Amino acid sequence: QKIYLRDYEAPKYTVESVALDIRLFEEDATVEGRLQISRDAAGDVLLHAEDMEIEALYIDDTRVDDTAYTHSEGRLMLHDAPATFALRTEVRICPQTNTMLEGLYKAGTGDETMFVTQCEPEGFRRITPYPDRPDVLSTFTTRLEADKRYPTLLANGNLIEAGEVADAPERHYAIWHDPTHKPSYLFACVVANLDVLSDHYTTSDGRKVLLEVYAKAADIDKCHVGMQALKDAMAWDEDNYGCIYDLDRYMIVAVSQFNMGAMENKGLNIFNTACVLSSPETTTDARSFNVKAVIAHEYFHNWTGNRITCRDWFQLCLKEGFTVFRDQSFSADQQSAAVQRIDDVATLRAYQFNEDAGPLAHPVRPDSFVEINNFYTTTVYEKGAEIVRMLANMLGKEKFRQGTDEYFRRYDGQAVTVEDFLSALSVADERVLSFIDWYRQPGTPVVSGHQNYDAETQTLEITLTQKTRHVAGFDAPKALPIPVATAVFDKESGQIVAEEMLLLDKETQTYRFDNITGAPVVSLLRDFSAPVQLNFDYQDADLAFLLTHETNGFNRWQVTQILVNRILLQNHEPAIYLEALAKTLPNLAKDDAMLAARLLDIPSAQELASAISTDYDPDAVKAKRDGLYQQVAVHLADMWQPLYESLPITEYDDSAEARGVRALRNVVLDMALTAGVDNAADWAVQQYESAACMTERSGALKALVNHQVAGYETQLKNFYERFKADDLVIDLWFSAQAASEQVRVADIEALIAHTDFDWNTPNRVRSVISAFTTQPAVLWTPEGLALYTQAVAKLDDSNPVIASRLVQVLARWYTLVPSKREVAHRYLQALKEKVQSKHVRESLDSVLGAAD
Ligand code: ARG
Ligand code: ZN
Repeated sequence: QKIYLRDYEAPKYTVESVALDIRLFEEDATVEGRLQISRDAAGDVLLHAEDMEIEALYIDDTRVDDTAYTHSEGRLMLHDAPATFALRTEVRICPQTNTMLEGLYKAGTGDETMFVTQCEPEGFRRITPYPDRPDVLSTFTTRLEADKRYPTLLANGNLIEAGEVADAPERHYAIWHDPTHKPSYLFACVVANLDVLSDHYTTSDGRKVLLEVYAKAADIDKCHVGMQALKDAMAWDEDNYGCIYDLDRYMIVAVSQFNMGAMENKGLNIFNTACVLSSPETTTDARSFNVKAVIAHEYFHNWTGNRITCRDWFQLCLKEGFTVFRDQSFSADQQSAAVQRIDDVATLRAYQFNEDAGPLAHPVRPDSFVEINNFYTTTVYEKGAEIVRMLANMLGKEKFRQGTDEYFRRYDGQAVTVEDFLSALSVADERVLSFIDWYRQPGTPVVSGHQNYDAETQTLEITLTQKTRHVAGFDAPKALPIPVATAVFDKESGQIVAEEMLLLDKETQTYRFDNITGAPVVSLLRDFSAPVQLNFDYQDADLAFLLTHETNGFNRWQVTQILVNRILLQNHEPAIYLEALAKTLPNLAKDDAMLAARLLDIPSAQELASAISTDYDPDAVKAKRDGLYQQVAVHLADMWQPLYESLPITEYDDSAEARGVRALRNVVLDMALTAGVDNAADWAVQQYESAACMTERSGALKALVNHQVAGYETQLKNFYERFKADDLVIDLWFSAQAASEQVRVADIEALIAHTDFDWNTPNRVRSVISAFTTQPAVLWTPEGLALYTQAVAKLDDSNPVIASRLVQVLARWYTLVPSKREVAHRYLQALKEKVQSKHVRESLDSVLGAAD
């Protein structure tokens, strides 16, 4: 059943306070809830209540008769309740069998068993009957009771009391109270046996906050990176937004079974182990950097999400878009800002552009959905962040801060909308309001343009035109305000002669630059100033010129990507690109190894696919892509040995320079193997064996696997034996094989059959099933589709959130060449017959809808 933004109604009553008593037993749990409810008049009261057995209900301490309520389809209706009353509910739930990982669930087995919650977006209704919507705010008191085998009892807020349970010497309890008003999706509790890493942070207003990271004993050593990131994030938010932490305690708990990355529950964040644990020996630089970003992201939610929350789930981007923008800005301050931007844009292009180009396209603020879990998308998150970025750039540092100060001042403690956000920012600049259409309109705008230089009058004209595809079911697209950061270079001197932020807010506009004395080369969309696809009629030679002369690091990378796309998708000759690389790389490798590593990027097979709208042939794309990669490797073949040798393995160091060296070394190693450089296979084995950290070891392992270097099975086996006790490293072991350039469906089947494969652990499922989608030429075969759709069918019942995500990856099946398209259609149709969950059904309906 679809729900619509336009049908929003304010809640009919308020919940003054909530007290929960959660008692965990061997086979199940009981939950007693006490809600103080008030409203204007007596009448029916509707609560959400899913997957639970109602044992008793009391209104003002009087038992509610069975005929005075109804409970069906996740809804509990109390007939004709008084206007103001105390409600007590007693229910039974079963966390032990909760494989959906929403609500209260069991994670891990044996000694590592723990119980944790995931309530966003609608998990709280699986714990206790409640008006489970983000615009109902209340204070929560939580009593937890369990066997002493689980010494760790945590909930939001402050610890009030703990002790033994009378008459049950093997049990104990703890009572927590959170004084802040929060929606139910921010509730959390943990019952486990964990160790803790403690520290503290003193806020700029002088309060000492206890910081704790909880993990299983063997993982505590891997919590230091996250702890430091938390302290950095707390200071960063004070400096950049004036946002100070408000409770006395901030806890993070690492969980090995988790659907997403992490969750910002008030004062008690719950994290996927993959997003909090980090150590040089077991975690690559990229993953470690991601750990810091996710820690910061969840911390930043304390203001953008928790203190100011969403009125309804249509407004999800209100908290996610802004918070992603904030974590990206934080990360940009921790490394080269250009590389940060490159990585964020590469992700946006590979996933969000793809989503926006297919049947799952939706506005950053959707206006209808069946299952909100299906809308935790890259459009809501990453495109949402791009909108905030455009606003921040347009306003400039000071005015943006003025706007965000106003937002925090005006809406603290409230549940608000995207309009409220824009209205607060508009105190700094009225033009902010015109950005609302970016939230309402799906599809990636395509900006095309050309330049016209008149040497006589010394004027340059740049003409830009925007066009957004008309997505079925939405109004005809409007012109959006698109900031295009532009620099004009003098061809002769290589110097910048003009710099301007052009604002394209009509369909077509021409911008004039006077006093351009010599032939110009323009550079557009610097730093990716708007989330659009740019088709400017650059000469390939102009792009090569920019690769040398651009001062904006991001745009240097961007021109390589334009050149590569032209070669792969428009059959341009690669000569200019290869020459430009040969000229640029040697110096750049010395100055900025990280950027140098990125310049060799060739868009992934999936990203290329997103630019192809008909007759997509995955084999042909793979052949072209591999061919170009080979050409680059061979053209620069003389460079690899000296370069590799100039980047020796030294003791581990976490500086940006050292990370750059490691990144470049891994790229060079793979290039050398591709070019068939003598001894490259020995370097790989040598690097594998003498690695000082996981970036080096896994880089070597992947190179060995991708090139099936003779004897690579030895290193694979060694890697497994060395790390078999560490789930996250074994995930890497699985994904190195599943995402290998050489992978076949039989290999995936073998990985699934491995004793360490587990359908109930999302990280493991992703490390094989999702990793395999990086090889579209294998995925889109009958065998590949059979395996993949079987995986979806299997997960549909046990974990529909994950199953639905897997379906979304198949969205652009209809662009395939006819023979493959027909096969894909058949498998999707067959899958439709099998699946039950509304999550998968909604995704599959949209995906199949693309056929009509
Ligand atoms: N709010 C979390 C974050 O982005 C994501 C939680 C999503 N969980 C889910 N089951 N959809 O930080
Ligand atoms: Zn978030």
